[in-house]
Amino acid sequence: MGKKTTTSIRDLLFGDLWEYAPAPQSSDFVTLKERYGHFINGEFVETEETFDTINPATEEKLAEVCIADEATVDTAVKAARKAYEKVWSKMPGSERAKYLYRIARMIQERSREIAVVETLDGGKPIKESRDVDVPLAAAHFFYYAGWADKLNYAFPGAQVKSLGVAGQVIPWNFPLLMAAWKIAPALAAGNTVVIKPAETTPLTAMILAEIFQEAGLPPGVVNIVNGFGATGAAIVNHDDVNKVAFTGSTGVGKIIQRAVAGTGKKLTLELGGKGANIIFDDAPLDQAVEGIINGIFFNQGHVCCAGSRLLVQENIADEVMAKLKHRLSTLRVGDPMDKNTDVGAINSREQLDRITELVAAGEAEGAVKFQPSCPLPEKGFFFRPTVFTEVTPSHRIAQEEIFGPVLSVLTFRTPEEAVVKANNTPYGLACGIWSDKGSKLFEVAGALKAGVIWGNTYNKFDPSSPFGGYKESGFGREGGVQGLLAYLEVR
Ligand code: NAI
Ligand code: MG
Repeated sequence: MGKKTTTSIRDLLFGDLWEYAPAPQSSDFVTLKERYGHFINGEFVETEETFDTINPATEEKLAEVCIADEATVDTAVKAARKAYEKVWSKMPGSERAKYLYRIARMIQERSREIAVVETLDGGKPIKESRDVDVPLAAAHFFYYAGWADKLNYAFPGAQVKSLGVAGQVIPWNFPLLMAAWKIAPALAAGNTVVIKPAETTPLTAMILAEIFQEAGLPPGVVNIVNGFGATGAAIVNHDDVNKVAFTGSTGVGKIIQRAVAGTGKKLTLELGGKGANIIFDDAPLDQAVEGIINGIFFNQGHVCCAGSRLLVQENIADEVMAKLKHRLSTLRVGDPMDKNTDVGAINSREQLDRITELVAAGEAEGAVKFQPSCPLPEKGFFFRPTVFTEVTPSHRIAQEEIFGPVLSVLTFRTPEEAVVKANNTPYGLACGIWSDKGSKLFEVAGALKAGVIWGNTYNKFDPSSPFGGYKESGFGREGGVQGLLAYLEVR
């Protein structure tokens, strides 16, 4: 047989013979302000010191944002306290629900604008902001609106009581969605809120503030302050905050846990992860490959529950790797505002540096790097989708959260070995299992130390489904009835 020269159907469909035409999402209908302040006691207020928030895909400045110092945080906490005592804790749940339903509907009404701003400010593909972040944020408000007047049924036989002022600090990977995860259950349970968005992605929270104002939410029920870690620390350490909720790095989570110890403040932490996506030899492989891709390249891998470790059964490793490498080379990396983009911009230069450093460590420690030869934009923060093979459990890339589009592949022979390897991290947030056998799915799931376990799928979220971790991934659950527990005293 001579060398094959014909073009296969696969090449025709997925090769570089076909190019995607640009499909840019327009941003003409969005007008950003030059400067954003804080939202305190129902009003937009500015403070003197500012920082710039940029578009990580272009490195262009989008707006100036004010920094809240301790005095500003104190004003926000006082507003939240007053709103709690005088209005929100006294309001019947059925009335609180009306505000939450209204907010949910207004998020839907402004969904196109919010999706565009989320993508401009944070770098995630527009198809994800549009189809995941914004609809899920609305869904959280709808879901918890439904609980607001049913708290006594949520925990039958128990007495439930709101906590007071909730201080919340959120990260940059799902800016609007994390705001919704934090604010919706807090308000449904009758608490008031002081929240700080992440410094690289403050803009959609400011749209949310406009929605709160327009929805007529009583002043002080939600207060949004902008700034860096020091502003977050001022919220966490404020004496009159009753509950602290944090999502972010494990390092900062530990600082917060120490700061809160002994204060009587209730605490929930959603921290990092190093999720294992386990592929058994009886799995539907094409679906599994899609699940691997979604697990690690969704939102550039800036996902705490990302399937950043692939555990593949040894006898199918070659086949899976061949399929995976091929699929990797079809990913479209680049302009997040293009509707066809699969992998957008890395959120910040700092995060790009962290990813670059860990990938270099992977190579230095002897793992084998594979990257597709896709072109990257000249400006902005971009990183090629990356897969490492020949990874051993002791490598840094198998242990540390990279929080980028980088997958570490390990193999296993038996289900027992898969479980041991999957559990061999300081984290315990999420795992995926792929197998045709239901009994195997359930048995392995029972042995995994992770808060969220997906069977034959990955990265599926629903407001009714609790989410949270074990070990260094934190504690407390968000979503579902369990998510109310973080914001209630149950006796
Ligand atoms: P970070 O934990 O510093 O930032 C998260 C939020 O905490 C931001 O709003 C920040 O302003 C605030 N913050 C920082 N220091 C604080 C303090 N002492 N007290 C109160 N609030 C504080 O995360 P960063 O530096 O942006 O990312 C570093 C790494 O953390 C990433 O590479 C990733 O591995 C991990 N990370 C994990 C997240 C997750 O959801 N699991 C989210 C963000 C980061
Ligand atoms: Mg930004």
